[in-house]
Amino acid sequence: MTEFRVFRFDPEKDKVHCFGTYEVPWEKGMTVLEGLWYIIDNIDGSLAFRSSCRAAVCGSCAMHISGERWNGKYRLACNTLIEKLLANGEGTITISPLSHLPIYKDLVVDMTNFFRHYESIKPYLIPSQTPPQKEFIQSPKERKKIEQSIDCILCGACYGSCPVAGTNPDYLGPHSILKTLRFYNDTRDTAKKERLSLIGNNKGLFRCHSIFNCQICCPKDLDPAGAISQMKMKLIFQKIKGLMGLG
Ligand code: FES
Repeated sequence: MTEFRVFRFDPEKDKVHCFGTYEVPWEKGMTVLEGLWYIIDNIDGSLAFRSSCRAAVCGSCAMHISGERWNGKYRLACNTLIEKLLANGEGTITISPLSHLPIYKDLVVDMTNFFRHYESIKPYLIPSQTPPQKEFIQSPKERKKIEQSIDCILCGACYGSCPVAGTNPDYLGPHSILKTLRFYNDTRDTAKKERLSLIGNNKGLFRCHSIFNCQICCPKDLDPAGAISQMKMKLIFQKIKGLMGLG
């Protein structure tokens, strides 16, 4: 048995949030998400959280999770093993929703602002020529350039962990800038200048304070902080080229 302490809040009924405590039986290999499903199925069916794929693919189950051996991180509940959180097979696991986003209920947050920022960077290929009838050819070497950033599943863990996103809701967030790098480096895309102008401002690149929480918490081991540094360099080179009349 382990104790799950789960953030509870219903804006329609509650003035402040609280933590509900639930005894959850577990065995080796069980995930935090399975623990939450146990609570819904056996203890309290009113608990609200999001999940879908259960395989770290859809990004819907990101939340803040801490345990005896783990001081708390934004992670995916579906690939966080209970045994990794407990010191001697027992203890308390505390679960809270993603930060900086309004709470719909319990662990479910309103992702509107998160996706509004994502949409603002034009997250699709912008080719200059008429697309070929069959396909754009991309070599394995060219594909490798976008391999890392393409793996981002937009779970929101980086956004929840970023204090800048917490203090400035207009900040585009690490996810938007990582995805900009993904399209910038794609050989099928030709909107490099436009992409830099979309993030090269005080809501984007220059709002980041290089705190690196996003890099520490990414459940897919990506490097949004590195992507932000790379995009800053690209912007500076573009400005220098412009000043020299070369671009
Ligand atoms: S349920 Fe899809 S990422 Fe966890």
